[in-house]
Amino acid sequence: MAAAGPGRSVASVNSNHDELCGSPEWAAYIQDEVLPAVTAGVDLGREMLEIGPGPGAATGWLCQRVTRLAALERDEPAAAALAAKFPGVQVTVGDATRMSYPDCSFDSVGSFTMLHHVPTTARQNQILAEALRVLRPGGVLVGSDSLPSNGLHQFHEGDTCHPVEPAALLVRLQTLGFAAIVVAVDDVLKFTARKAGPAGLPGRPCGVLAPGIPD
Ligand SMILES: C[S@@+](CC[C@H](N)C(=O)[O-])C[C@H]1O[C@@H](n2cnc3c(N)ncnc32)[C@H](O)[C@@H]1O
Repeated sequence: MAAAGPGRSVASVNSNHDELCGSPEWAAYIQDEVLPAVTAGVDLGREMLEIGPGPGAATGWLCQRVTRLAALERDEPAAAALAAKFPGVQVTVGDATRMSYPDCSFDSVGSFTMLHHVPTTARQNQILAEALRVLRPGGVLVGSDSLPSNGLHQFHEGDTCHPVEPAALLVRLQTLGFAAIVVAVDDVLKFTARKAGPAGLPGRPCGVLAPGIPD
């Protein structure tokens, strides 16, 4: 975990992220290129949860597309700044591996450029399992993340960097209980996966968690 310092927008990530993730250029990239592609043809529904919003590059775009947006951020100063910037968003400080939301709370869950900040595959799987738990039947997980590369690891010097292996993600999501999984790789990793439900897919009823899969 990086040390907090003056002017840091997210104290729990290294200072390279302040220059990038809080910049208008990053917000424009996320909003103009990543989010339209990840959500193409996807109904986000009325109520959405964004996990790991950081300075809010995706938040401003998402909150215009759903009736209620909740955001779960583990970094307290970043969460406070986000709540001030987006007063209509229900920002909660917390760890996405242990969400406090009841089962079946959301129509969609979004995770953008955050999973690689989760230090182990097991904890990433806990987050994905929690996303499944809080989704309503038929709800959708939408996400993007950085691909593994030397540049990514250099950028994260002194910080957590545990990028998701794209090919393994499909099996991980399937094992956790997601259905209709799509994993795409171009400049970034993009994925969507559904909680089985009324759309005719065989599914687990609300409150029944899929068994975890090992690290
Ligand atoms: C690189 S930033 C991405 C911010 C934003 N989603 C974006 O795409 O610009 C990763 C964010 O995830 C948050 N985060 C990491 N692990 C988390 C966890 N277990 N629960 C909640 N938030 C977490 C970090 O605090 C940070 O704000």
